[in-house]
Amino acid sequence: MEYSETIDEILDHYRNPRNYGELADATVRAKDSNPLCGDVIEMFLKVDGGKIVDVRFRGKGCAISQASASMLTERLKGMTLEEARSLDRNYVLDMLGVNLSPVRVKCATLSLKVMKVGVYSYLGSSVKDLEV
Ligand code: FES
Repeated sequence: MEYSETIDEILDHYRNPRNYGELADATVRAKDSNPLCGDVIEMFLKVDGGKIVDVRFRGKGCAISQASASMLTERLKGMTLEEARSLDRNYVLDMLGVNLSPVRVKCATLSLKVMKVGVYSYLGSSVKDLEV
C-alpha cells in the first residue's frame, strides 16, 4: 500500500471507528491512559472457549491512538487469548504502516497495552510480566 493510502486508512478509522462502544456482557474489560497526554482507551472483549468472539472499544485521544484501537479491534475478533497476549508493538506498528516518533509510538500502542492488561489479568498472569 502507498504511504498516502495508509494515512487515509488511519484517518478513516479515526473518523469512523470500527467496533466503537461498550459490550455489556464483556468477559474482559480494561482501561488505561497515555501518561504523556492523559488520553484514554477502554477495551471490552467477549471470550468464549478461549477465543475472542466480540470486541469493542471507546476512548478519547489523537488520531493515532483512536485509529490504532479501531484497527486492532478488527484484528482481535477470532483470535485466541494466547494469540492476543503475544501481540507486540511491532505488530501494531506494522498494522499502522507509518513511521512514528517515540512519542507517537505511545499513542499507537495504548490500545495494545490496554488489551494486554485485560487479557493478562483475565488469564491470571502477573501484569508485571507484561511487555508492550
Ligand atoms: Fe494522546 Fe496520542 S496524543 S494518545
